[in-house]
Amino acid sequence: MIPVPDRTARPTRISFDHVSVEFATANGPLKVVDDVSYDVRDGEFVSIIGPSGCGKTTMMNIVAGFVQPSGGTVLLDGKPIAGPGPDRGVIFQEYGVFPWLTVKENIAFGLKLRANHVAATEREEICARYMRLMGLADFADAWPRTLSGGMRQRLAIARAYAVRPAFLLMDEPFGALDAQTRSAMQDLLLEVLQTEGKTVMLITHSVEEAVYLTSRIIVMTARPTRIREIIDVPFGYPRDERLHESPEFGALRSHIRELVMREYAVQARQFIPSST
Ligand SMILES: Nc1ncnc2c1ncn2[C@@H]1O[C@H](COP(=O)(O)OP(=O)(O)O)[C@@H](O)[C@H]1O
Ligand SMILES: [Mg+2]
Repeated sequence: MIPVPDRTARPTRISFDHVSVEFATANGPLKVVDDVSYDVRDGEFVSIIGPSGCGKTTMMNIVAGFVQPSGGTVLLDGKPIAGPGPDRGVIFQEYGVFPWLTVKENIAFGLKLRANHVAATEREEICARYMRLMGLADFADAWPRTLSGGMRQRLAIARAYAVRPAFLLMDEPFGALDAQTRSAMQDLLLEVLQTEGKTVMLITHSVEEAVYLTSRIIVMTARPTRIREIIDVPFGYPRDERLHESPEFGALRSHIRELVMREYAVQARQFIPSST
């Protein structure tokens, strides 16, 4: 096994300190995040796993700059988050592409913004590279509505990777993909991280994916979400497909599955109207 570097030797990039989030709804305030504290160190690849509707996207939206916490603080490189920024590439759960731009224009979009601006020839190269990697080379001038759901998702991923952000915030990015494409996208992500060294937060429903890809897994409880357990994944990088077969991998997967199943059961009970 490849050794795991000591995480505490790296600087903190993202920190959640006693964070809570409450939304105003028609039925009164809804507490979604409850006293959550954790940090993400430089170059770490952290996954967040927990039942649907527990508050995972809300937590990521705070880092992306779309949601303000109701209590506690979230810092990015030691500073409060004022709003979205070009340092954070976000891959949304859905609707991650601009329908009014072609495939190539979508990928080029971020590269034309002032903060990420690159020369036209370099832009062409980056677009060509990601269209090739994502299997979209024949669709450069196609409109997103003419693509399959999986292709649109790959386009959203290409858009985020193209600008080489320091942070990648990925919200169930591979959920809509078939098993083959998903596995190819996972390995491509590992490759991108190996060459570009980013700090990544990934929300996923897949325990298998969390263990295979990430260095730290944050298991969240049912809503209002709290931290159930933080697991340091004892495998270094680079990783390859054979890891899935190792007994250590299997043991970790079982442990996390059990935690997650329990929280799913709790969350499911919240939806059952109580009988009188
Ligand atoms: N802006 C909002 N206003 C009111 N409720 C919201 C808002 N955003 C999210 N919620 C609610 O917060 C809860 C958690 O949502 P979310 O963070 O998207 O969950 P997850 O990503 O874990 O599935 C859900 O019940 C959702 O309906
Ligand atoms: Mg979500």
